[in-house]
Amino acid sequence: MLGKECWVVDLCIGIGAFFVIKWILKFLCSVLTVVRVTFVSFIWPRNLVKEYGGKWAVVTGSTDGIGKEYGRQLAQKGMNIVLISRNLEKLKKTEEEIRQECGVDVHVIQADFSHGREIYERIAEGLKDKDIGVLVNNVGYFDVPGRFMNVSEEEIWRYVNVNMASVLAMTRLVLPQMLARNRGAIINISSMFGLCPIPFVSTYAATKAFVSSFSHALEYEYRQSGITVQTVHPSFIKTNMLSSFPHVHNRGFIAPKPADWVSSCLSTLGYYRTTGGTWGHAVAVCMHTHTHTHTHTQSRPGFPLRESRQYTNLKKF
Ligand SMILES: NC(=O)c1ccc[n+]([C@@H]2O[C@H](COP(=O)([O-])OP(=O)(O)OC[C@H]3O[C@@H](n4cnc5c(N)ncnc54)[C@H](OP(=O)(O)O)[C@@H]3O)[C@@H](O)[C@H]2O)c1
Repeated sequence: MLGKECWVVDLCIGIGAFFVIKWILKFLCSVLTVVRVTFVSFIWPRNLVKEYGGKWAVVTGSTDGIGKEYGRQLAQKGMNIVLISRNLEKLKKTEEEIRQECGVDVHVIQADFSHGREIYERIAEGLKDKDIGVLVNNVGYFDVPGRFMNVSEEEIWRYVNVNMASVLAMTRLVLPQMLARNRGAIINISSMFGLCPIPFVSTYAATKAFVSSFSHALEYEYRQSGITVQTVHPSFIKTNMLSSFPHVHNRGFIAPKPADWVSSCLSTLGYYRTTGGTWGHAVAVCMHTHTHTHTHTQSRPGFPLRESRQYTNLKKF
């Protein structure tokens, strides 16, 4: 009887030890990844062309803010860049800046993603014969907060075409060649607002939830084929999009400059499937998800979901 009890105790200790060792190894792996991302990639610059098997990087919405920085920083890493945006003058200016600063080839495609399906034939034509290693699905549309019925029908289709359809259509254009060589990276810029429902920015938040959901599923479907898919959830970044929120836009700690944020975010490519970009944003994402999940269990939304004065000033409901 005693022998049987000893056997059960030994088994329990064995199982416990197995999980403790597994947890310690997982923790050490995470620490190692943090060290690699934070320090090693700054000491030994990565060769993204070799890693992702294509000389070209394609960035949508690339004449300002986050997209322009992705273009510039991927060019600094030796990649040729395809810039896709709607304003030709800004495209030419950005093309010149990147070419002069980084000495790489830059190709521009003028396209307005709000026009939907009709633009992709021309984009496909512009991408023909280019070996694309990295695609950054960055373009996004955001208007001032308000109730859903304040969003016009035209705006609804802009949200659908710019924030959601562009991600699917661009991925469909680029993924086949990545699959053919079993290498490539797709970076999908979602948002912290895509992590849970947000009243008063309901449409924007829902489109970003779509991006995150698609991106996570795509990552799972193609990870065995050598494709890296990264889902990015920025909180606030000091760009034009945020300029209608001066209380956040002008605070450096809350809203980092696009250059700093993209540099940090790019160093995580291939290491993290999902990222907030910086440590500050990771904390913001964590707090945001916790607060909002909590407030959504209440029948009346609490802070920060109440109609705040700041929002009411921007748009009358
Ligand atoms: N900034 C933030 O705090 C923040 C936070 C979370 C997520 N995000 C996401 O990050 C992404 C980039 O935002 P951002 O802050 O960098 O924006 P931004 O500074 O306003 O830049 C937007 C870029 O997209 C282009 N663009 C806008 N509408 C377009 C359209 N219909 N067709 C083609 N190009 C278009 C603009 O170029 P043209 O004017 O030349 O067309 C510009 O280059 C978006 O997906 C956004 O949702 C931003």
